[in-house]
Amino acid sequence: MLQGKKILLGITGGIAAYKIPLLIRLLKKRGAEVRVVATPDALHFVTPLTLSVLSQNPVAVAPFNPDDGTWYSHVDMALWADLMVIAPATANTMAKMAGGIADNLLLTTWLASRCPVFFAPAMDVDMFNHPCTGGNISKLMQMGNIQIEPGSGELASGLCGEGRMEEPEKIVELLEEYLHKRNDFAGKKVLISAGPTREPIDPVRYISNYSTGRMGYAIAAAFAERGAEVRLVSGPVEISINHPSVQVLPVTTAGEMFEACTSLWSDSDLAVMTAAVADFTPENRVTEKISKGEAAGLHLNLVRTPDILKTLGDTKKANQYLVGFALETQHELENAKAKCQNKKADLIVLNSLRDAGAGFGTLTNKVTLVPATGETVSLPLMSKKEVAGKLLDFIRIQLND
Ligand code: CTP
Repeated sequence: MLQGKKILLGITGGIAAYKIPLLIRLLKKRGAEVRVVATPDALHFVTPLTLSVLSQNPVAVAPFNPDDGTWYSHVDMALWADLMVIAPATANTMAKMAGGIADNLLLTTWLASRCPVFFAPAMDVDMFNHPCTGGNISKLMQMGNIQIEPGSGELASGLCGEGRMEEPEKIVELLEEYLHKRNDFAGKKVLISAGPTREPIDPVRYISNYSTGRMGYAIAAAFAERGAEVRLVSGPVEISINHPSVQVLPVTTAGEMFEACTSLWSDSDLAVMTAAVADFTPENRVTEKISKGEAAGLHLNLVRTPDILKTLGDTKKANQYLVGFALETQHELENAKAKCQNKKADLIVLNSLRDAGAGFGTLTNKVTLVPATGETVSLPLMSKKEVAGKLLDFIRIQLND
């Protein structure tokens, strides 16, 4: 995958820079061409000789060499690259990038780049968790830069937490995966429902569930990263998504989610219904707050909400692909298969509440993919992001176009 690829490595001044020689070696072993642009501070942590010997290219630090006038053109370097990887990306460099500041060669090169750019944040846990850093990372991602998320663990300071730069082996794996999968959903319009719905009882109370929307948002991000145009119909959640190809359409009730999804469906190639839609809603929404008064109890009359997945299934055209989610507690596989048939879906993603680490509110999930035609696939426990990736791989094979 990396054979012949031109990788421009941007190194900034963080202790994790000591891992970059290994990253260069791994890239070179896989046949990539590597050039390095470093900030002056990066060279406190790693020597230019090490970097140039391993990359087999001179290391660019200043725009020109004052001794012989050699000019390192940031534009030439930027346009040379198939991929740019800024690792480690310090809080300072990310802040400058987010603000468009170009006071060193690495930053001018980044500003002049047209290729996909990865950045691997690396810093201490409190710096990473600071709202300034979070805001800058969001801004960079909104611009289309791809974050290589830092891991959690012991940091150079001795503190423990998030902020540890991803290991070189994993960075190489991510780059290979990116090149392999880039744009395999390009041209597809994808509709996703996510999160819970809220069914109002009166102006201050509602019926809802524990869904956080994480699985749906991870799937939306995965589709966008692989070239799709995504419409994300989202119930009320506390998470957000920043990607230029994801349009978020916020809704509150099952009725609103139904309206949004059904109106977008005819113009979609694919739909993934991850939302935990309330199956029942109060028959009448009381306009004034219900007071307990003297009452010993309260009866709420609940009526069925429209089944969005089933409605999409009933109106599905031959070139559309429909995915539903199911949360079962017994006869899981049979129920999932029956649901797939009844709702005319092409695939049901089965969550089991029996599995530790799966279901609502967790960062991980364990699912079984139950297609209308073909073999059922059980995936091991993995992060919701990884589940999203595997789900897309599966759909890609099923689509066969
Ligand atoms: N779903 C939907 N609209 C509804 C209810 C559910 O689109 N009103 C979708 C969910 O987003 C999910 C799938 O249907 O993709 C399965 O939901 P689930 O609650 O597991 O199944 P139900 O069909 O509601 O059946 P039951 O409650 O009997 O298990």
